[in-house]
Amino acid sequence: MDFKFTSRSETDTLELAQNIESEKFPNMVICLDGELGTGKTVFVKGFAQALGITETITSPTFNIVKEYLDGELPLYHMDVYRLEEKKDTIGIEDYFEKGGITIIEWADLIKEDLPEERLDIEFKFIDEDTRVLVFKPHGKMYEDLCSSVL
Ligand SMILES: Nc1ncnc2c1ncn2[C@@H]1O[C@H](COP(=O)(O)OP(=O)(O)O)[C@@H](O)[C@H]1O
Ligand SMILES: [Mg+2]
Repeated sequence: MDFKFTSRSETDTLELAQNIESEKFPNMVICLDGELGTGKTVFVKGFAQALGITETITSPTFNIVKEYLDGELPLYHMDVYRLEEKKDTIGIEDYFEKGGITIIEWADLIKEDLPEERLDIEFKFIDEDTRVLVFKPHGKMYEDLCSSVL
């Protein structure tokens, strides 16, 4: 079952990410897809803030993975938009089992490397301030999470 959330502002997206954070568990994987400027990085910022991470979240486009280790759980923020041939040297799959939380922007580009159990969120641009977020949970943990948050 899919879940839909309409975000009417950046604040809505930040708050939604904070609510999902409150249901976090080790090895959680969240996959974000959608055009540039739809709020994927905003979502990561809200999540990171709720984890208690004090470092500023910046888009990891040029280094693919950024690790934030000063929150309640480690956060691994990936942006695989420009991954290309670097893929094999990063060892993406290792991150899914390190006990932290992995959030991946443009995850569709590495579909074959994603774990079976994960939460997919698709961001759709509606107008300047409005986005529709479509949640697709894969696995019971993520289904329960969506039922309780959305
Ligand atoms: N409802 C909304 N949710 C998230 N961001 C929004 C929303 N409305 C407007 N914005 C703006 O859209 C931009 C989203 O940027 P960003 O998160 O970097 O996108 P992406 O990572 O998907 O490329 C920000 O400038 C933000 O202020
Ligand atoms: Mg981004």
